[in-house]
Amino acid sequence: MDYQLTEEHLMIQKAARDFAISELLPGVIERDEHQKFPAEQIKKLGELGFLGMMVSPKYGGAGLDTISYVLAMEEISKIDASASVVMSVNNSLVCWGLEAFGTEEQKQKYLVPLASGQVIGAFLLSEPEAGSDATSQRTVAEDKGDHYLVNGTKNWITNGNSASIYLVITQTHPEKGSKGINALIVEKNSPGITIGAKENKLGIRGSDTHSIMFQDVKVPKENRIGEDGFGFKFAMKTLSGGRIGIASQALGIASGAYELALKYSKQRKAFGKEISQHQAIQFKLADMATRIEASRLMCLKAAWEKDMGIDYTLSGSMAKVFASETAMWVTTEAVQVHGGYGYVKEYHVERLMRDAKITQIYEGTSEVQRIVISRAILS
Ligand code: CAA
Ligand code: FAD
Repeated sequence: MDYQLTEEHLMIQKAARDFAISELLPGVIERDEHQKFPAEQIKKLGELGFLGMMVSPKYGGAGLDTISYVLAMEEISKIDASASVVMSVNNSLVCWGLEAFGTEEQKQKYLVPLASGQVIGAFLLSEPEAGSDATSQRTVAEDKGDHYLVNGTKNWITNGNSASIYLVITQTHPEKGSKGINALIVEKNSPGITIGAKENKLGIRGSDTHSIMFQDVKVPKENRIGEDGFGFKFAMKTLSGGRIGIASQALGIASGAYELALKYSKQRKAFGKEISQHQAIQFKLADMATRIEASRLMCLKAAWEKDMGIDYTLSGSMAKVFASETAMWVTTEAVQVHGGYGYVKEYHVERLMRDAKITQIYEGTSEVQRIVISRAILS
């Protein structure tokens, strides 16, 4: 067993860290306050290859492994989780699904611009009445011969307004349940699409979350991904990898908060000594460091399994539930270590605490991860 990162891994980690500090840190508090999408920064991330990290260079990607992706996600998320969710959705939910299951024509037309960062994509599974219960799709894609006619509403869509390309999960044969579902590639500017107002959120406020309404939207048959009825499996297989991305986002949020708490504890004095000299604070820091290390190893293990072609559904769900619960706990403790200063925006930790919460909800809540894990260990 080799725990050593390669030279290339270290280079990518450093490039992501440098980018986060030089490009994302300036203005991160203001973007959060004003819910401003980091458009310029996302464009630069795309130019550097961070939006199509695992895609083959043949399709405009960086051709890197999943371990590199975890390392980059951690570094970007330490500073700005609103930017890292864009990166996660584009890499793992949109590009990965297209490369794994798209036709050559779909890859040339849609994957190349997505992987090279010219445009960004969105993944539209959730609906007002179908979140965790994802097979209860009400968005209908009626088969009209050479095209589908799509009607329905998706909600909570990350990159909802900033994306140009949507991967939309729809129901075509309701009588077949999950086997009647189709995944369609839909261009955002198609007639009949309406974008709802941006959601005013607790955390990841810079990210762009919208409802998307479809009314008689015509989608050519050649834009279906996989065979008729493959859409639910497509969504689940894609989410298995997506969960490694969100686990790494949670890891980054936790390690960002921990680094701030560690630094602050060595500066702040109380009762005649640095607060890091009080054992109560030392134990908090020790527990933070331990849980973060466990989260990191779980993320890297899931990534390694994916790179090795081993089934990573279980390890990805375990990493997500553990890292997201760690992120919520660590960020709350990081605010505590900062005392009153932790409660105001300038010190960053309150934002990290607000950002941590979403990692327990999206791409499958903690309860859904426990469903996936318990089914796997009991089967
Ligand atoms: N890989 C391949 N196939 C899978 C699979 C996987 N990981 N998981 C399920 N399937 C297959 C099953 O084998 C089954 O197929 P068969 O009928 O051929 O056996 C079919 O899919 C239906 O599966 P289930 O019976 O297990 O379905 P279920 O109704 O019990 O639901 C669930 C299972 C795990 C709870 C699933 O509905 C789920 O993951 N829900 C959460 C949805 C979610 O994660 N949404 C995230 C939206 S995207 C997002 O959030 C992005 C973002 O924030 C940035
Ligand atoms: P529900 O499914 O209604 O769950 C409510 C509660 O009940 C949760 O605690 C849940 O865990 C629990 N629960 C439900 N069923 C069970 C059960 N069987 N056993 C135990 N507990 C259960 N979706 C997309 O498709 N694309 C996106 O880009 C996207 N981005 C998002 C961004 C943000 C900021 C947010 C908030 C959400 C986003 N989502 C996206 C949606 C997200 O994936 C869903 O919110 C999530 O899957 C939960 O669904 P729900 O909100 O309908 O909650």
